[in-house]
Amino acid sequence: MKRFIKKIAVMTSGGDSPGMNAAIRAVVRSCAYYKLECAGIYRGYQGMIEGDIVPMSARDVHHIIQKGGTVLKSARSKEFRTVEGRKKAHEALKKFNIDALVVIGGDGSFTGGMIFSEEFDFPVIGIPGTIDNDIFGTDYTLGYDTALNTAVEVIDKIRDTASSHNRLFFVEVMGRDSGFIALNSGIGAGAEEILIPEEDMGLDRLLDSLEKSRRSGKSSSLVVVAEGDKTGSNVFDLANYVETNLPQYDVRVSVLGHMQRGGAPSCFDRVLASRMGVKAVELLIDGETNKMVGVQNNEIVAVDLENAVKEHHKISAEMLRISDIMSV
Ligand code: F6P
Repeated sequence: MKRFIKKIAVMTSGGDSPGMNAAIRAVVRSCAYYKLECAGIYRGYQGMIEGDIVPMSARDVHHIIQKGGTVLKSARSKEFRTVEGRKKAHEALKKFNIDALVVIGGDGSFTGGMIFSEEFDFPVIGIPGTIDNDIFGTDYTLGYDTALNTAVEVIDKIRDTASSHNRLFFVEVMGRDSGFIALNSGIGAGAEEILIPEEDMGLDRLLDSLEKSRRSGKSSSLVVVAEGDKTGSNVFDLANYVETNLPQYDVRVSVLGHMQRGGAPSCFDRVLASRMGVKAVELLIDGETNKMVGVQNNEIVAVDLENAVKEHHKISAEMLRISDIMSV
């Protein structure tokens, strides 16, 4: 049954990512275009529970497309995991006459949105915003492209000093459960080895391969390690292990950390955010709920939120093959 939507709220939730502001802008401007009211919810589900909600018009989102972070702030809410918390949140939405919700975030945020939607028969659409690119149903999440470019820029700099001192560097990039950033920034920066949670290379193979590289005449080397990789217990232990077993190497570690989550979004992320924001509002107008907007083969699509949450975005075997060939 098609609902009559008059007012849509938008929020950002979970870990922030570059492009979230561009997506907020796109939702707000699409509402203005279709003559709908729009509201912004601060601090994700926690702000929803507390009624931290403001009206947003097309002019309120000027000059934010280029900004990193999120003007609506982000948070993780324990209270929203409880029925009481979600009831309070629903009351707040009713008080502000909100008929539908757009959640920009990752799978945790989508799970919350789905439960809320089912409990209160409330329309929810998700926009994937996370640098990890670990959401099923979309080729790219918002912020991933920017984070990749940040990582590559920094790894290039590390390469300069690694090469001056003939050193082996372990560079840890983000990706608690997924290796997209590591694999793609590693290929982009010409890393000798790339370690990701999806593929356990094993310590012996790593030592073998580094020893081969040294013998083949490479004077410096870079190993890009995803935060969630299981080859060592952490990147520092891994580096110690390698230095102990291959004493010819002078080893250093660099952890890139949260710098990967900040900064101005790339043009790719801005355009993707704009396309996704428009689609989210149009889905709600068409009476859809419990969908995530995704991009597949450069087409904007709607995917069931349930699938987006349950399934895994798999690393492509072809990319692993390319990285192997490149590190010869
Ligand atoms: O945004 C995703 C992510 O970057 C993960 O790769 C990382 O483990 C996590 O966020 C850290 O987030 P926080 O410091 O906000 O807990």
